[in-house]
Amino acid sequence: MTTTRVICIGNTTLDRVWPLAQLPAAAGKYRASDYLEVGGGMAANAAVAVARLGGDAAYWGRAGEDSAGRTMRQEMADYGVDVTQFRLFAGARSSTSAILVSGDGERTIVNFRGTGIPDEAGWLPLDTIRSAHAVLADIRWIEGDVKVLGAARAAGLPTVLDGEIATASAWTAVLPLVDHAIFSEAGLRSFVDQPVATDADRIAALRKVRLAGCRMAAVTRGGDGTIWLDETGIHFQMAFTVDVVDTTGAGDVFHGAYALALGEGQRIPDAIRFASAVAALKCTRRGGRAGIPARDEVAAFLARQGNLHMPR
Ligand SMILES: Nc1ncnc2c1ncn2[C@@H]1O[C@H](COP(=O)(O)OP(=O)(O)OP(=O)(O)O)[C@@H](O)[C@H]1O
Ligand SMILES: [Mg+2]
Repeated sequence: MTTTRVICIGNTTLDRVWPLAQLPAAAGKYRASDYLEVGGGMAANAAVAVARLGGDAAYWGRAGEDSAGRTMRQEMADYGVDVTQFRLFAGARSSTSAILVSGDGERTIVNFRGTGIPDEAGWLPLDTIRSAHAVLADIRWIEGDVKVLGAARAAGLPTVLDGEIATASAWTAVLPLVDHAIFSEAGLRSFVDQPVATDADRIAALRKVRLAGCRMAAVTRGGDGTIWLDETGIHFQMAFTVDVVDTTGAGDVFHGAYALALGEGQRIPDAIRFASAVAALKCTRRGGRAGIPARDEVAAFLARQGNLHMPR
């Protein structure tokens, strides 16, 4: 059997984390109990999830040719992600965050968005897209998205979008090229540019997403589960009940798992259920990447859930 290949295009960031007993209340000098460097970013985390779940993951993206860029690239390669098209640009600076975290989990985050990373996407090897089975894009590199999603559609591959907060022009450019648009609540709000407070609001917003050209439109709602619309109607998948330790990256991992499942040929309800299980298991462990479950853990988890629903 060929391994399912998923190309993930979009954002990568590096978190530099300093755990402290207490967050600083004033300027001064403080001692951290540890120091960690962890990669993040929607598409980058999704690629790590695909690799962790046994897929053949490729990450296509950009960072500066600096220590943060090299660290991110190496970490993803260590997870088994193909980073051939993870390009580091000389003179550009990577996106990084300094995160101070206290013993009780409070955080102070300082983000630097990076500078000098070119938007131009002509270097992407679009002729190799045919080797993939699915494409996942986030909404942080519009020029890249348009090229890659367009090529994926021409090749007949399913495309998945991680719909986080973006501008009106980004939605206009990208949504017509997307088959499966899966939003966060904040992302869906940003798309309709008005409050989305009730299920009726959510369904109306998802209808609008479908009118933009997407076959399937979904919103993930953390522990409240996922609503989606497709040509067969309105559907709902509950979040799995788990002991939640850390929800970092749950959405990113959900998207990676969903794209992998589609690439494997799973139908939408099965892919949503699979992604929900992967994301729920991730929530039971620390770390956006370190907490991602392996494939056999997900299979065992889903089998247990299945038994719970057997008729008595
Ligand atoms: N507390 C939880 N318990 C069980 N499953 C969860 C929980 N939080 C998230 N999930 C699963 O992960 C999916 C995505 O989570 P969520 O909607 O929070 O993503 P998000 O808003 O994009 O956040 P982020 O991208 O920052 O992780 C949910 O639809 C659900 O299946
Ligand atoms: Mg998200």
